[in-house]
Order: sequence, then structure tokens, then C-alpha cells
Amino acid sequence: MVNRFSINELLPPWVARIRPYPPGKPIEEVERELGHTAVKLASNENPLGPSPKAVEAVRKSLDRSHFYPDGSGYYLRRKLAEFHQLDMSQVILGAGSTDLIELVARTFLTAGDQGITSQSAFYIYRLAIEEMGAELLQTPLRENAFDLAAIAHAVTHRTKVIYIANPNNPTGRMVTADDMDRFLDALPPRVLVVIDEAYYEYVRQPDYSHSLDYVRSGRNVLVLRTFSKVYGLAGLRLGYGLGNPELIEALNRVRSPFNANSLAQAAGIAALDDREHVALSVESNTREMKFVTEELTLAGVRYTPSVGNFLLVDTGRDCEEDFIRLMHEGVIVRPMKLYGFPTSLRVTIGKHEDNEKFLEGLARIAKVPARGIKD
Ligand SMILES: Cc1ncc(COP(=O)(O)O)c(C=O)c1O
Repeated sequence: MVNRFSINELLPPWVARIRPYPPGKPIEEVERELGHTAVKLASNENPLGPSPKAVEAVRKSLDRSHFYPDGSGYYLRRKLAEFHQLDMSQVILGAGSTDLIELVARTFLTAGDQGITSQSAFYIYRLAIEEMGAELLQTPLRENAFDLAAIAHAVTHRTKVIYIANPNNPTGRMVTADDMDRFLDALPPRVLVVIDEAYYEYVRQPDYSHSLDYVRSGRNVLVLRTFSKVYGLAGLRLGYGLGNPELIEALNRVRSPFNANSLAQAAGIAALDDREHVALSVESNTREMKFVTEELTLAGVRYTPSVGNFLLVDTGRDCEEDFIRLMHEGVIVRPMKLYGFPTSLRVTIGKHEDNEKFLEGLARIAKVPARGIKD
């Protein structure tokens, strides 16, 4: 007998409406399709790779892979607590910060609640809110940064969680510590603010975040950091959250028990000690960001100045077409239509030769008119 049942009938309506997150195209897939090598500047990964000390630590811990990980992540949490001068009870681990973004929503939101974030912000915030059947409110960006005043204004008695990316992805714009102070002071204390600082280590601006002060003073704030960016461990999936002990305890009720795996925990401990790798990565990013932005300026290509390790580049052309044309040039970037920038690409600042390849590819495709290329 033919089964006429569709699994979609089981979906709650809010899940049926979800558009899944489109990740950056994997390098192997592009190379397979094109038959030539490519550079990936699509997911804001560290072009210098992982810390060699972290790689060594992973090698050593592989032999113990038959054991479940330490579900409490004791040693890594202790190390993170020391590193940030906090108590272990203020630290929670995640399978990347994405895991923690979703954990917050799973812990606090249900149908009838509201979550707020900005338009054109990291896509996982809206997914996390939508997954729980909660109402998503999105305020517009102001000068391509989070508009904190607009968010404060949008808060209602049903608002439980606010997600802020600082700096924002994909625009690379930050809000200052003073602006964040004013914003938090203006909010009802019951609203939980998630301050996602995935690119924290790259930011050189002196008026940037002092978010750990909020944690120390017990505010209703969760600060998110990750090992995926400057530490170069995106593939191992490791992030962490810093918040007051009551908040961390609440999140631990819902956290998947072994969300940070043993290889990731070992790598994280070693990576935190490898300050040389962090310093080299930041130095390379600062130098190459200067190179890429100067070249774009010379070429008359518009971009949003960024404090992170990526740039939003407005070519003035259809970004999906530019994405495909650049892929044929051997450079994988990210089209930003989904984020509300139909003529912009987001490009990660890579190694010098990769950045040159991107700039050359961009110059070449600008000379040849698009012909409605499809994937
Ligand atoms: C603003 C922001 N938050 C979080 C993440 C996710 O990082 P993770 O790999 O730790 O899940 C990213 C990744 O691109 C990001 O841009």
C-alpha cells in the first residue's frame, strides 16, 4: 500500500516556515565541481590554520576517544575561568557558539514569547528564535551596525531574549562599550541580552567591549566567544559562554550532556596557552585587512569598514552571479542576498596570496559583463 503520509504533517507550523542556514560552500565541493583548486574566503576562518599546540593536544587525546568526554568540561572551564578572571560557575561550553545561541532559545523561549535581534545580523539568531515558535522581532541596522536604541524601543513585556553581534557579521561594524552600557541600563532587568563576540580577539578599537564587567557584576547578560575564529578550530566545534552562575545553571538544564567533545576540549586548553598563534593571527589580519581595503579603494569598489576578519564588499552587481563567477576564478566567497545585501559579497581576510587572488578575480569579473550565469 502506498504511504500517503507526509512527514511534513508532523511539523509544527513555525518549523515548516523555517529556511535552513546556508553554510559556506566547502572547498572540496567546489574543487570537485570545477576540477581545479580554489581558496575559501567564505566562512571567516583563520587562514593561518589551527594552533600547532592545539593540533598536538588533539593527537595525544585521540587514543582516549573510546571514552565519553568530560560532560562538565572541567579542565577547559577552569582554564577559561582563570583566563578571564572569573569563577568556573560563570562558564559554559558549547559545540561552537552556535550551539549556545540555540541553547539560550531552547532554555528560555516558547510560543508567545519574543526574541529580538537586528535585520542583516548573523542568521542563527533568527533561526534560534523561530525554532522555538517564539515571535521574532528585527530592527533595521543603523550605518550597518546594530541600532541599540531601536532594539531598546522594540522591547515589550513579552521580550525575553535579545541577540547582539558585536561586531556584527556580515557588516563588520561594532557598537562601543559606552553604547552597550547605555543600552543595558535602559532595558528592563528581566530581559536576557546575549552579546556575541565571536570576533573579539581581532578588534583593535580602544572603545570596544568591556563585556566581562557585566558578567562580574551579575547582569542578565551572556557573553559568547568562540574557538572557531582567531584560534582556528572551527572544525572541532567549540565555543563558550560567560554569565552569572544562576544563568549558567539554567542553561545547563537543557544543554546536551556531551556538547563539547573530548578532542575539542583538549584543543581548547592548548590553544588558550598558544598566545603566539593568536598574536600572529591578529597581526596577519590587521596587515591584510589594510592591504585589501587599500586595493579596493584604489579600484573604486565600495566596502563597509570592518573591525573583524571579513569585509562586506558591494560590487553593485547581482551577488549570486558574482559569487559563481568568482568561484570559476577559484575563489569562494559568500553572497549576501539572504542578509539583505543583494549586491554585496562577504569575503574573509585570508593569506596574502589568497587575498591577491580574490582582488584579481574581482577585477577580472568586473571587466566582463554578467550573462545570467546559473549554478
Ligand atoms: C557573529 C557570529 N557568531 C557566531 C558564529 C559561529 O561560530 P561558531 O563556529 O562558534 O559556532 C559566527 C560564525 O561565523 C559569527 O559570525
